[in-house]
Amino acid sequence: RGAEGVTADLAGRHVVVSAGGTREPLDPVRYLGNRSSGKQGYALARTAVARGAAVTLVSANAELPDPVGADVVRVGTAVQLREAVLKAAVDADAVVMAAAVADFRPAVYTPGKIKKKDGVEPAPVELVRNPDVLAEISGRRLRAGQLVVGFAAETDDVLANGRAKLDRKGCDLLVVNEVGDGKAFGTGENEAVVLGADGTETPVPLGPKEALADVVWDLVRERLTR
Ligand code: CTP
Ligand code: CA
Repeated sequence: RGAEGVTADLAGRHVVVSAGGTREPLDPVRYLGNRSSGKQGYALARTAVARGAAVTLVSANAELPDPVGADVVRVGTAVQLREAVLKAAVDADAVVMAAAVADFRPAVYTPGKIKKKDGVEPAPVELVRNPDVLAEISGRRLRAGQLVVGFAAETDDVLANGRAKLDRKGCDLLVVNEVGDGKAFGTGENEAVVLGADGTETPVPLGPKEALADVVWDLVRERLTR
């Protein structure tokens, strides 16, 4: 048992967690971003530390206190997040991608502030695809037996969408939550279903993000083979 009275069942393990939301700059003062607060990823990092793991937290623009005992790597963009996650994942037992990674970034970064001109309509913003970090890390498995976990916020047919996404990404576990009506984003609570590539389906009732984090680590722990 660790200092906080929790079983140190992740002792000797290295886990990587990405958290927050990437920002894709248009110019020095503007970016395309998203509403991810980083709370779920930080809860994952804190609970992993409490369970004895060595934790690398790759944090994209989250305004939250550093989890005590975690190694925090700060990134801004999806490309930077990819670099940091790949680097940390080399010797990781598990990689959990809780960050909201922008699917697209502006094709062009304007090094000076974009100015408006009277009588001139703004140019459309051209976008290009960002790398898919979860799919890449799932395909590469930088360490033998490495477990990879993704997160997905879905609407409509949540479970079917989640199952299709799990297959497409090639990860071991996908935490799916339903969004809309102020659910999940920025709140302290979360409700989800964790889908396993092995066909399992683990419902997690509405509760603190730490509770969901602990379920994720339970599922990771029981799948670690080495
Ligand atoms: N993800 C990633 N790299 C990206 C986009 C997403 O690593 N460029 C990861 C997220 O961190 C998350 C998972 O993939 O763990 C699912 O993200 P989501 O946006 O739901 O998946 P997408 O494939 O982008 O699907 P969608 O078109 O529904 O946005
Ligand atoms: Ca996406």
